[in-house]
Amino acid sequence: MLSLISSFLALLSVFVPNLQASDIDSYISTEGPIAKVGLLANIGPSGSKADGAQAGIVIASPSKSNPDYFYTWTRDSSLVFKALIDQYTLGIDTSPSLRTLIDHFVNAEATLQQVNNPSGTVSTGGLGEPKFNVDETAFTDPWGRPQRDGSALRSTALITYANYLLANDNSSYVTSTLWPILKLDLDYISQNWNETTFDLWEEVSSSSFFTTAVQHRALREGTKLATAIGETAVVSGYTTQAQNVLCFLQSYWNTAGYVTANTGGGRSGKDVNTILASIHTFDPAAGCDTATFQPCSDRALSNLLIYVDAFRNVYSINSGIAENAAVATGRYPEDIYQGGNPWYLATLAVAEQLYDALYVWNAEGFLNITPTSLPFFQVFSSSADVGTYASTTSIYINLTTAIKSYADDFVQIVAKYTPSGGGLAEQYSKSDGTPLSAVDLTWSYASAITAFQARNGTVPASWGASGLIVPSECLSNIVAVTFNVQATTVFGENIYIVGSVNALENWSPYNALLLSAANYPTWSITVNLPVSTAIQYKYIRKNNGDVTWESDPNRLIMTPANGTYATDDTWR
Ligand SMILES: *[C@@H]1O[C@H](CO)[C@@H](O)[C@H](O)[C@H]1NC(C)=O
Ligand SMILES: *[C@@H]1O[C@H](CO)[C@@H](O)[C@H](O)[C@H]1NC(C)=O
Ligand SMILES: *[C@@H]1O[C@H](CO)[C@@H](O)[C@H](O)[C@H]1NC(C)=O
Ligand SMILES: *[C@@H]1O[C@H](CO)[C@@H](O)[C@H](O)[C@H]1NC(C)=O
Ligand SMILES: *[C@@H]1O[C@H](CO)[C@@H](O)[C@H](O)[C@H]1NC(C)=O
Repeated sequence: MLSLISSFLALLSVFVPNLQASDIDSYISTEGPIAKVGLLANIGPSGSKADGAQAGIVIASPSKSNPDYFYTWTRDSSLVFKALIDQYTLGIDTSPSLRTLIDHFVNAEATLQQVNNPSGTVSTGGLGEPKFNVDETAFTDPWGRPQRDGSALRSTALITYANYLLANDNSSYVTSTLWPILKLDLDYISQNWNETTFDLWEEVSSSSFFTTAVQHRALREGTKLATAIGETAVVSGYTTQAQNVLCFLQSYWNTAGYVTANTGGGRSGKDVNTILASIHTFDPAAGCDTATFQPCSDRALSNLLIYVDAFRNVYSINSGIAENAAVATGRYPEDIYQGGNPWYLATLAVAEQLYDALYVWNAEGFLNITPTSLPFFQVFSSSADVGTYASTTSIYINLTTAIKSYADDFVQIVAKYTPSGGGLAEQYSKSDGTPLSAVDLTWSYASAITAFQARNGTVPASWGASGLIVPSECLSNIVAVTFNVQATTVFGENIYIVGSVNALENWSPYNALLLSAANYPTWSITVNLPVSTAIQYKYIRKNNGDVTWESDPNRLIMTPANGTYATDDTWR
């Protein structure tokens, strides 16, 4: 058995998992209940660490100094209550006390919506206010405001509850209590999605992928709910804006193979913002849809790999870890807040995205590798190639087995740096893994609960992401160009392309795009390039780090104004 396992690992050239599955199971069975207790302790009126918080108010953390998080953020509260509402509506925790707490949350949020605050009143922008005092009064100090994700996340939490109540013969509460709250938030999103916002880390004022993604989701499911309860007046307006938001969402994808988290900020744009967006807009019925960046979509997988790899060299606790193995991850590699450390919720989000992906592949009975996701899959099998693989094939089984281990290894890292007692702070030290910053971060506990459930195949309800079509005019400034080159190679050698534009990695051989050998000796890749542009490029071959360039001069194409384009090149 052991030799079978080692040859399997050698064949796939994968990392060796650090922990047996049973150790993960044992961590989860201990930490899961601790996370639930820790989360509930931070909710008023009777949470043991939330003294002074009104009923249904979620404190971000009991920490009152360095940092002072004894406030209620709409984003954190809504994510926490989405996790609780999922537990209630999926039948994981149907206790009457949880139902009461959810009703408290509904009332607390209805109150907060009406509190005049520095962002405005309920009708003049106040719904973009990020945080409030725990006694439900306005927080009036300077802050990064507005933050436009809060109203969207609150909508998603409440719509999940509303859908459950509709299915359980309680439409009166939906129409009389939930809809008035929802309509305020959805109108706000519909009217303001195209305004700048601070990102979820409260630092960058621009447009932010996470915010756009959750706004899109809220408008879609809000439209469905409105239709279901006969509030048809809003349907056409919300639908129009949802299409516009979906269109705008596409623009965050960059041709280097990841999602640029914020349009401003002057950073690499690699940010767990994008992983969180994928898990919080996961729709188990939407397959591996690329338009909504579903967890198993080729874009989201490529993005995950590039995000994870960005942390290999920034935290010393990651040193010595094999380059294809799980590492500790944080918000973004340039982070300096509280020293710039890994975050529990960030590392767990990576695991959750992968568990969500595994759920969908298993449900659909196949997985699909595209040129965009090929580098991700090659982490697990150097022989992986573009194609569709049924769940009965050994490549499918090998890949999904390795991806499950990889996902588990992110949980294992969190397990390794969870202190005895199980408390989850905001961060853990980049140099020795000890907990740092705010203790008992409510969102950390929620992220553990949702990651553990996803590992278990417990997934949230669908929200209507299936079958959405990106309007064609959103894609009108790019053209898909297929580069074909005839090249014979020796074993271990691969053909790549680089060129004069961002989409072709600006001549960087290190970042060169790998072509597929599915039709060997023709190597191919399809790249989205700007229309009507003169573009220079060259093919290169790489073998174990050795780079060989084609001979001069550079190749040149003029991309068309529309349609598609293909080259018919021969290596030179
Ligand atoms: C509907 O749900 C609300 C909120 O939990 C509850 O107060 C009310 O009693 C329910 N009504 C019915 C008819 O079940
Ligand atoms: C508003 O939408 C347009 C069109 O999608 C987009 O180009 C622009 O960046 C958006 N601005 C903001 C702040 O969302
Ligand atoms: C899958 O792994 C097995 C060993 O467990 C190996 O024999 C087989 O060749 C692999 N299949 C593929 C397609 O990689
Ligand atoms: C996983 O599933 C089992 C059986 O369905 C259940 O008993 C357990 O509570 C679940 N664990 C989590 C974390 O959801
Ligand atoms: C495509 O571009 C050509 C010019 O290259 C132009 O004549 C034609 O009208 C365009 N077609 C569409 C559908 O835009």
